[in-house]
Amino acid sequence: MKVFAQDQKLEKMQADALAVFLFEGEKLAVDIERLDKALSGAISETIKLGDFKGKLYEVTPIYTHGKVPSIRIFLVGTGKKGEFDARLARNVAGAVVRRAVKIGVKNLAVYLRSGINAEEVIEGVGLASYDPALYKTKKEENGEIEELILIGEVKQQTIKHGQVITESTNWVRKLISEPANVMTPAAMVGEAKKLAKNYKFAIEIIDEEEAKKKRFGAFAGVARGSEEPSFLVVLKYRGGGKQTLGVVGKGITFDSGGISLKPSGKMHEMKMDMAGAAAAFGVMKVVGELRPKTNVIMTAPLTENLPSGRALKPGDILRSLAGKTIEVINTDAEGRVVLADALTYVQKLGATHVVDLATLTGAVQVALGSEAAAILGNKENWVRQVTEAGKFAGERLWQLPIYAEHKELLKSEVADVANIPPIKGAGVIAGAVFLEEFIEKKNAWAHLDIASTAWLESEKPYMAKGPTGFGVRTLVGLIESLEKGT
Ligand code: BES
Ligand code: ZN
Ligand code: ZN
Repeated sequence: MKVFAQDQKLEKMQADALAVFLFEGEKLAVDIERLDKALSGAISETIKLGDFKGKLYEVTPIYTHGKVPSIRIFLVGTGKKGEFDARLARNVAGAVVRRAVKIGVKNLAVYLRSGINAEEVIEGVGLASYDPALYKTKKEENGEIEELILIGEVKQQTIKHGQVITESTNWVRKLISEPANVMTPAAMVGEAKKLAKNYKFAIEIIDEEEAKKKRFGAFAGVARGSEEPSFLVVLKYRGGGKQTLGVVGKGITFDSGGISLKPSGKMHEMKMDMAGAAAAFGVMKVVGELRPKTNVIMTAPLTENLPSGRALKPGDILRSLAGKTIEVINTDAEGRVVLADALTYVQKLGATHVVDLATLTGAVQVALGSEAAAILGNKENWVRQVTEAGKFAGERLWQLPIYAEHKELLKSEVADVANIPPIKGAGVIAGAVFLEEFIEKKNAWAHLDIASTAWLESEKPYMAKGPTGFGVRTLVGLIESLEKGT
C-alpha cells in the first residue's frame, strides 16, 4: 500500500472514496460544510434524515454524481466525543477499509480532522487490510487498498513509522496464520536468519543437542516429545544507552498439550501458540528498520508440544538452566517451562529490563475476553511503563497482582517448583508466579499473557478473525520510551 499526504481542499480531492469522520450530533466543520455545499447539501441531508447518526463504526456512503472529483464520500461515525481515543481512531480507520474493500475501492482518501492522527490512520488502515485466508485459491474479497491519501500536513517520518509498524505487524500475523506443518520451529529459525541478515543483528541458534549440552533442561524437556527439530534463537541489536531490553517470546509452533492432551474441538487453533515469538520477531523487524538508540536482545524457544514415546510425562522432573528443578504436573503448561530457560538466558546475556510475550493460559480469556491482555510483573514502575506504552499503541493491558500468598501456589513436594498449582483458580497469576522464579531480583520484568488477544475468535468491524499481531506496537512504543529516557 502506497501512503502519501496531500494538503488539499475536500471538494478538490480525487479518490475512489473520501472518508470524513464525524461524532454523534456534531455540527459540520467549515471544510466539511464547503464539501457539503459542493454536493448541494447531500451530507447535511443524509444526517438530517437520520441515515447517518455518527455511531461508532457507522459507515454511510454518499455518491457524488460528478459534483466533486471523488466518486463517493464515506461519512464515518466516531461515536461520542468524550469516549474517543487513539485506539478507537485506529479502529474506525480500519472499519472504513473493511467496508471499502468489499466495494472495490482502490484509493482511499482520509481527512485528518482534529483528534485523528496520521499514524493512527495508517496503522488502522494497514491492520484492517490483512487477509488471513492465505491458502484460498480464489479470493473472496474485492482486493485491497492500493493508495492511502492523507488529507492534511504529515511528516514523511510519521508515514514511514506507521508503515513500518503495520507491515511488520502484518508479517507477524502471517507467521501466526501459517499452519504448524509450514511454520515449524526450523521455519521460524529461517525467518530469524533473514532478520539477522537484513538488519545486521547478531544471531545465535541453539539446537537441541547444544541445548542439552548447555543445560537448557527445561526447554529440552518439552522439545523431547517432538520429531521436528527444536531451537532456541537469539537476536541481538546494539543501539546504545545504558539499559538493555530483553524481549522473550513463547514459540510453541503447535500445542497439543502433550501427554496431558487437549480436547480436539479447538486444538487446530493451537498453531497460534507461537504468537509471542512471532510478535518478538516483529519487534526486531521494526527495530531493524527504525534503529532506535536502545539495546535489544530477543530470545525465543521454538518447539512443538506433542505426545510421543519420548514425550515429557506428568510427574517428570527437569533441571532448568538456572539450576532450579521443575516438577511437570501437567505437560500442557509447557509455555512457562520453555520460557524459564529463555528468561534465564536473556538475563545472562545482559538484559536488565525484560518483557515476555506469551499465549500462556486459557484463564486469561476467561478473565478478560478478547479486549485486553494481562500484565504482571515484579516492579510497579516497569509494569506501569509497559502499560502506558500499550495505551499509546492502542493495545490494552490489564494488570493482575502477584501477592506473597500467590507465591505459595507452586510448591512441589519433590522439586523446587511445580508447573501448575494443586487447586483451581488464579490461572494467569500462577503462570506469572512460575516465570518469576526465573527472574533475578535486580532486574525489572513484565509478563504479558496474550492468549486473550493474539487471536480474534470472531471478526470485528476493523479486523478480520484470526491473528492480531498483538504486542508488537506496545513493545515498539516501549523501546521508544526507553530511547527518550536514555
Ligand atoms: N497454549 C496454552 C494456552 C492457550 C489457551 C493459548 C487458549 C491460547 C488459547 C497453554 O500452553 C496451556 O495449555 N495452558 C493451560 C495451563 C493449565 C494446564 C494450567 C491452560 O490454559 O489450560
Ligand atoms: Zn499448553
Ligand atoms: Zn501453550
